[in-house]
Parts: sequence; C-alpha cells; structure tokens
Amino acid sequence: MPINTNSSSITRIPYFIYGGDYNPDQWSPEIWLEDARLMREAGVNLVSLGIFSWSKLEPRPDEYDFDWLDRLMDLLHEHGVSVNLATPTAAPPAWLVHRHPEILPVTAEGTTLWHGARRHYCPHSPAYHERARKIATKLAERYATHPALAMWHVDNEYGCHIGECFCDISAAAFREWLKTRYGSLEKLNHAWGAAFWSQLYSDWEEIHPPRKAPTFANPAQQLDWRRFSSDSWLACFEEQKTILRALTPDIPVTTNFMSFHKPIDYWKFAAREDLVSNDSYPDTSDPEWMVHSGMACDLMRSLGNRRPWVLMEQAAAQVNWRQRNATKRPGVMRLGSYQAIGRGADGIMFFQWRASRAGAEKHHSGMIPHRGTDSRTWREVKALGNELPKLDSLLASQVPAQVAILMDWENWWALELDSKPSNDLKLLSQIYSYYKPLFERNITVDFAHPASNLSSYKLVLVPNLYLVDDPSAASINRYVENGGNLVMSFFSGIVDENEQIRLGGYPAPFREMLGLVVEEIVPYQEMQTNTIRTSDGKQFPCSFWSDVIRLENAQALGTCEQDYYAGSAAITRNRFGRGTAFYVGTALDPGGMDWLLQQVCETAGVQPISPKVPAGVELLQRSDGSSSWLFVLNHSAEKVTVPFGGHGLDLLTGRQVDETLELEPAGVAVIQLGSAG
Ligand code: GAL
Repeated sequence: MPINTNSSSITRIPYFIYGGDYNPDQWSPEIWLEDARLMREAGVNLVSLGIFSWSKLEPRPDEYDFDWLDRLMDLLHEHGVSVNLATPTAAPPAWLVHRHPEILPVTAEGTTLWHGARRHYCPHSPAYHERARKIATKLAERYATHPALAMWHVDNEYGCHIGECFCDISAAAFREWLKTRYGSLEKLNHAWGAAFWSQLYSDWEEIHPPRKAPTFANPAQQLDWRRFSSDSWLACFEEQKTILRALTPDIPVTTNFMSFHKPIDYWKFAAREDLVSNDSYPDTSDPEWMVHSGMACDLMRSLGNRRPWVLMEQAAAQVNWRQRNATKRPGVMRLGSYQAIGRGADGIMFFQWRASRAGAEKHHSGMIPHRGTDSRTWREVKALGNELPKLDSLLASQVPAQVAILMDWENWWALELDSKPSNDLKLLSQIYSYYKPLFERNITVDFAHPASNLSSYKLVLVPNLYLVDDPSAASINRYVENGGNLVMSFFSGIVDENEQIRLGGYPAPFREMLGLVVEEIVPYQEMQTNTIRTSDGKQFPCSFWSDVIRLENAQALGTCEQDYYAGSAAITRNRFGRGTAFYVGTALDPGGMDWLLQQVCETAGVQPISPKVPAGVELLQRSDGSSSWLFVLNHSAEKVTVPFGGHGLDLLTGRQVDETLELEPAGVAVIQLGSAG
C-alpha cells in the first residue's frame, strides 16, 4: 500500500497486512519456532513486536539485552513474517520508576498513579524522555538494516488510561505552552475571561493546571489544558519519530489510535504519521456494534485524508475489560474485518497472537486461544488470513463518499465541559444519531475538520458545533454559499476558540447562512418530550432540547406543537448563495431523523450505493481509477438475496454474480464490478 510519508520517502507494502501483537517475551523460547510456523499457516505477514518489552530489553539502566529479539527478528524473517517493531515506551521499567518516582503521573485530585500496570508516566518528565529517547535510538540503530523491519509502532495508545498529568513538572510545562500561545499575561487574562471570579494573573508562576477546585474551573483554562495535554502526547510521538526517521528514513512510522478517543486531537496526530492505524473493540453483544465500528473505520480513513489505514488491533473473540465480555459469534470477526477493508483498511491485525497465560489480560482472546489450534477461533483466524491475498488487486484503492460529518476535538472538549445548559449533551451520541440512519441507507460518510475544504461533498452534516473559530465558520459559510448542502443542529456556533460567547444572537456566525436567530434555548428534563408537525403533514416526537427560533429568511419545515413556543420552527431550510442550509433545533427521534435525511439527501442528490437491500446488509464500495469493488456484508441472521444491479466477480468465491447475490447469515462477498472473471 502506498504510505504517504511526511518526508520525501514513499514506502510500499505490496500485500494485505495480516497479523497481530506478538509478545514472545511472555513465553519460553521453545514455542517461538512453533509460533513462526503457525504464523505462516495462518497467512500472517506482519507482527507488532515488543510493545511492552522495555524491562526485558533494558533489565537494568543502560544494560541492554537484544539477544532474544535478534533471534526473533531472524526467525520471523526466515518464515516470511515482517515486523512492525515497537518502541516499548508505554510501560517504563520498575528501575526507572524507582530511580525517578517523579515520572509517575498525578491525577487532578493529586493522587499519584503507581507502577504495576502500564502507561504510568507523565508525558512531561525529562527523566522519562531521556530514557525513552535512548531505548528508541538503541532499537533503531540495532535493527535499521534488518530485513524483517517493515514498520515502526511508536509507544502504545497515547492517552489511554490517563489523558493528562497534573504534577508540578506538568504545571511548569503548561506555563511554557501558555507563554508560546499568548505571549503576554494580558492576552491570557483576556482569552481566559479572567476578570470573572477574580482570576486575573500577574505572574506566570501563579498559573496551575485545572486541578480539583471548589467548583467549576475556568472553562478557557480547562480547554487550553486539554489542548496542551493533547500536544504533549504528540510531542512524545514526534520525539521518537524524529529519531526513527533519522536512522531508518524508509520505514513508515505509526502509533495506534483508539477510535473516537477524547483526550487526543487525532487530526493533529494523523497529520504527523506516515499511516493511520487503529484499535477497535466493538461490543458485539450490542445489536448496533457494526454501526459503531463502521463509524470508527470512517473516522480513520478520514483522519488519514482517505489514505488506506490499518486495523492494528481487534479481538479474535472476547476482550477482558468489560463488565461482561461477549465472545464474537461465528463469522463476526470476519464480518468486522471485511467491514474495515470495505471502509478503507489495507491491513487487519489483532491483539494478540497468543492469548497470555499470566498477567491482567490472560482472559483476553488471542489468535491462538489457550485451547490451541483445535479451536473455532484459530480456524476462523487461519481462514481469514488465507483468504485476504485474494484482495491484493484492491490495495490502495479508495472509498468514495458524498457526505461528510464535521468532527473537531476542540469542539468535543468545549461542548462537554461542565456548567452547560444541559450537561447530558454528549457529542458522540449526537453524531451517532446522524451517522446511524446514513449507515442504514448504505450511504458512506467521511468525517471532516470544520476548517477543511468541503467542496467535494454533496452534503455536510454539522451536529452540535458549539465551539467554532473564525476560519472554520468562514469555511462552512463559504461551502454553502458556493452551492453546498448543509444540516446544522442545535447549540452550534455558540462560542469562539476561547470558550467566549459569540454575541449577536445565536448562532452568530451562522445566522445569515441559516436565515434565523435562536431567541431562547430550552433544555428538557429527562422524560420531557414535544412533537413536531412537518409542512408535509407528518408528526413525530422530539426530546432533549428545543431552540426557540425566530425565522429571518428561513422557511419552517417543521414546527413544535407543545409548550409556550408551540408553533415556532423546529426544523428549517434556507437558501444561502447557491446552496441550502437546514437547521434542526431539537433532538429528533429515529422517525424524524429519517424524514429529515430523506429531505436533505433529495436536495443534495445523495444516493445510496444501491437503493433496495434487505435490512442488516451493509454495502461498501472501493474504487481506483479503473476498477470498483462492492463489499456486501450480511449482518442479519437470515439468508438474504441482495439486488445490486450489475455483474462482476466475487473475489472470495471466484464465482460470477449477476444482478442479485445470495448470502448466508454472516456471509461476505467482495465483487469486482464489471469483471467477467
Ligand atoms: C488495547 C491495547 C492492547 C491490549 C488491548 C486489549 O487497548 O493496546 O495492549 O491491552 O487493548 O483489548
């Protein structure tokens, strides 16, 4: 797959990646050979090696033991397995903590988080950084020319377990970050609205992280703290990437993301990676698991600017960290894998190769379960690994999307800060309420940053863009003015980047575009509802929130029926420039959402991949300049007949298909369209 590096080097991995995290240091060397042999048998061609091996690689300060890793690198290479070599910096060894207890992270309440699990480090600790740089350098020096080295896996899941550290070292780093951002205390005081509650600062040393306080901490301070913490993890990554890039300029560098992970602004991170990789653990006992995992896939593709990405971790069967850990039923792991590929992944990997026999994750599944190879899990893992090479022709192809949902971490942080009209307003569930009906219609969605160029999309959805800076507001307005179609939902355009209200009537930067002003906002109590009557005579319930809207140029498509604002608009449409802007001042029920999407898709000319497919069937498409592939996934428990209105070759069965396709429950087809076989 082409990996678009930030430097001048482009690395190609010309096959579908298949493999998993490999932790051989947890096992005695006697089984390494069997591991390598079984990897071959299962079609494994890449393993992420040594992610948590620091104490094994450097058992005492500056005393390194690479012999075991040398043996493994050679062994894997001999068996045709490449290595995604990890820097082991997510789990600092006990000796480092013992010598430098100040590397331990501290919570907002002042509690130190101790050694004994993982990710027990403060991202600002000089002692940690010094040691992390050293071990990353040693690894890169030693394996720079090793033929097994194919990729770098930096650290593991930045921001997992702890998103922020509140220690004194972090406080000092925060002050430096603020000095760079604001330059003067006067500007900081202004941006933070520090005149409120007598919070004006007269010396940088007076500033602290938003530690546990008697009540709500300054919101702008909290927001900057989030930005700073996210930047700090990125700095950890960048530091190691610089080392690796210098020593191995042609080896792509990634770090594994965690789907929608709040502490880290993945837009910024992805821009610094050679390729995006993700860990995805949907709860398959949830009947909507495929919608959740589909949404994560679409985010990953979008973060990487539509470049192919890698599913770096998934479970072969069950995880160990939920209250009740559902196992994946027969065919479900395969369905999830093809879903990722259909949504742009060029690699499928697992946590982990062999299920551990000791430690906190021994009840987590592996590609080889405790039971060994005489098991359903192994059979499914092996079958998939041997099937994927059939898809080599679609490597590096892309996933076309006509619709984008705007997603911005800064907005996420600000929207969910305390002291809001409704503290139950959560960004992801609002995004999900728009994403799900599109998923069900088989309409592929990208995620886009609000400041990005949106002109390639027929339709842009903007759920709850509470915080918006001037360039993003201008870009959104421009999109509609130039002919775009947009849906914006309530509590958007409320504050600027400093969490300060944009005066001039909500939603000030979008009033003209939307042709309305929101006079009041009415957050609902838990059981409170209202109904909406549409201009074409439909009626459906709404809940959670109502904006009391005064129309300026917009036309009401639906009005509220109850309460003191009965008769006022709840859903509107406005022509703006050459485009159309819809506004939704409430939370619609699924029926209402369906109705709305019908209207907006019609206006925007957005079509599903194929109009009439049975419920539970997911359709996806990848294409390059000359070919297109249709992915058909049957999530239902029934055998289905899927009309897809074309003909082609099912790459998985090698059979020609015309017009319709029959699929068993949990069945998958990947049809090369127009191909005569
Ligand atoms: C991931 C992590 C892995 C493993 C896995 C278990 O978050 O990167 O190391 O812990 O979860 O599901």
